[in-house]
Amino acid sequence: MRARAKLGGGERRIAEQHAKGKLTARERIDLLLDQGTFQELGRLATHNISDFDMADKKYPGDGVVTGFGKIDGRRVAVYAQDFTVLGGSFSEVQSHKVCKIMELAQESGIPVIGLLDSGGARIQEGVRSLAAYGELFVRNVMASGVIPQISVQMGPCAGGAVYSPALTDFIIMVRKTSFMFITGPDVIKAVTGEEVDFETLGGATAHNTLSGVAHFAVDDEMAAFRLVHEILSYLPQNNSEDPPRVPPYDDPARRDELLDRLIPEDSSEPYDMRQVISSVFDRGSFLEVHAHYARNALVGLARLDGYPVGVVANQPMYLAGVLDIDSSDKIARFVRFCDAFNLPIITFVDCPGYLPGVSQEHGGVIRHGAKIIYAYCEATVPKISVVVRKAMGGAYIAMSSKQMRTDLAYAWPTAEIAVMGPEGAINILYREELRRAADPAALRKKLLQEYVDKFHNPYAAADMGQIDEVIEPSYTRLRLVMALEILRSKVASNPAKKHGLMPV
Ligand code: HXC
Repeated sequence: MRARAKLGGGERRIAEQHAKGKLTARERIDLLLDQGTFQELGRLATHNISDFDMADKKYPGDGVVTGFGKIDGRRVAVYAQDFTVLGGSFSEVQSHKVCKIMELAQESGIPVIGLLDSGGARIQEGVRSLAAYGELFVRNVMASGVIPQISVQMGPCAGGAVYSPALTDFIIMVRKTSFMFITGPDVIKAVTGEEVDFETLGGATAHNTLSGVAHFAVDDEMAAFRLVHEILSYLPQNNSEDPPRVPPYDDPARRDELLDRLIPEDSSEPYDMRQVISSVFDRGSFLEVHAHYARNALVGLARLDGYPVGVVANQPMYLAGVLDIDSSDKIARFVRFCDAFNLPIITFVDCPGYLPGVSQEHGGVIRHGAKIIYAYCEATVPKISVVVRKAMGGAYIAMSSKQMRTDLAYAWPTAEIAVMGPEGAINILYREELRRAADPAALRKKLLQEYVDKFHNPYAAADMGQIDEVIEPSYTRLRLVMALEILRSKVASNPAKKHGLMPV
C-alpha cells in the first residue's frame, strides 16, 4: 500500500509524465514548499466506485495530494493533482480532500496554491464528480477576497479544472505543457467542424495574449514555483492583514532625472511607461501582471520604500495608451484585487480616452469601461494618481480621478487635462466661424494655440483643486513615499449592502 502511495498511478505512467517534461504531484510539492514543511492530509483516501472497472483502479490519495506547508517561512495550503492517476480527473474523494484544506485555510487565514493537471470531472463517477466541482466552486468563491488563491496550470486542464482556477486570483501557465479549455479539439471538431490543435486552442500564449484567462506564462515548472514565491512575497496572508514590508533597500529620496526628459516634445509621440514605473518604485520590484494581455494598460505589484503596492498605468507604446474593452477588464480586475488585499493603488495616467469604433461600441465598451469606474469608486485602500501626460475626457475621470475617491492627485508639468484633444474641440466649438473665416487656416492655428495654452498643462485642474500638486517628474518617488506614509493608516468604508452590482 505504502509503495503504491509513493508511486501515484504507477511507474509506467510516472515515466510518461516525466517524458512529457512534467513532474509528479509529490515532486512538485517538494519543490514548491520549504524543505520538510509539508503536512499531508488524506494520503490514504480512495474512492468507492465499482462501475466501469473502477474497483481495480484504486490509488491511495485518489489522484490529488493535499496538505499544508510553508513558503519562505509563511504558511500555505496546497493541493497538487496527479495526472498519473486517471488523468488527475476530479472525483468525489478529490473534492473532499481539496475542500477540506480550503476550509481550514480560510478559517486560519492562509493562502491556497493549486497545482492543476487534470482532465476535469471523472467521467466514471458521473454526477458525483460534477457535484464535486460544485462543492469546490463554493469554497473558491467563499475564499475569494479573504485569502489569496493562486492556480498553477501544469498539464492539460479541461472542464472544471479550468473553471475552478478562473475563480481564483492568479493563473500561471507553464508554456508548452499546460493547456486550458472547456472542451478539447476533438469535441470542437465534432460540434463546430473547426480544426484546432491544443496549443492554438488553449496554450499559455493563447490565454496570456488573447483571452486574458491567464495572468502569467513561464517556461518551466521551476519557474512557476519561483513565481508563486514572488507573488506571495507582495501579499498579506489574508484580507485582515497588511501586506508584508521588506527591509527597504532603495533610497526613498532617489531622484531619476531621466524622468524630467522622458516625455517627448510632440505629445503624439510614444514613450515607455515602464521606464516611469521602474524609476519610481524600489529598484527591480515591479512584477507585471497580465503582461501580454491588453498591453495598452500596465498593472502589477511593486514596492515603495519596502511596502507592497498595486500599480496601474496606461501604456502609450500600445494604441497610444487608449482604454478599450480588454484593458478595462484588466484594470478593473486588478484594482479590485488590490482593494481586497489592502494594497494601496498608485495610478499613472497618460490616456487619450476610450477607444472609438463600432466594434468597441458593439462589444460593450460602455459596460466594460464602466468596470474601471466601479472598481476605483468602490476601492477603500489608499489611492494616489499621477497624471503624466494626457488625461482626456472619460479617461481623466475613470483613471483614479480625485472625484472618484482618490486620496491624492498629482500631475507632472507635462500633463494635458481636457475634455478632448485640441483638433476635435476646435472643430466642434468653431465650425461656423471656421467655415466663414477669410483665412480659415490662420484662424484654426490661433484657436488651437489658445486651446493648447489653456488645457495642455495641469494648471486649470490644479486651480480648481482637482489636482493637489504639480510635481517635478524626478521628485515623484519621494512624493509618493511621503504620501503613502500619511495614507497608510487610512480607514474608509462603503455603505452596508449585500453586494454592489458591478457591471460584468
Ligand atoms: C476519467 C480521464 C479523464 C476524465 C482523462 N482521463 N480525462 N479519466 N475522467 N475526465 C484518463 C484517460 O482515460 C487516460 O487513462 C488518462 O487519463 C490520460 O489521458 P489521455 O487522454 O491518455 O492523455 P492526453 O492525451 O494527454 O489528453 C489529456 C486530456 C484528455 C486532454 C485531458 O484526456 C481529455 O480530453 N480528457 C477529457 C477532458 C474533458 O472533456 N473533460 C471535461 C469533463 S466535464 P488511461 O487509463 O487510458 O491511460 C467537466 C465539467 C465540470 O469537467 C463542471 C464545470 C462547470
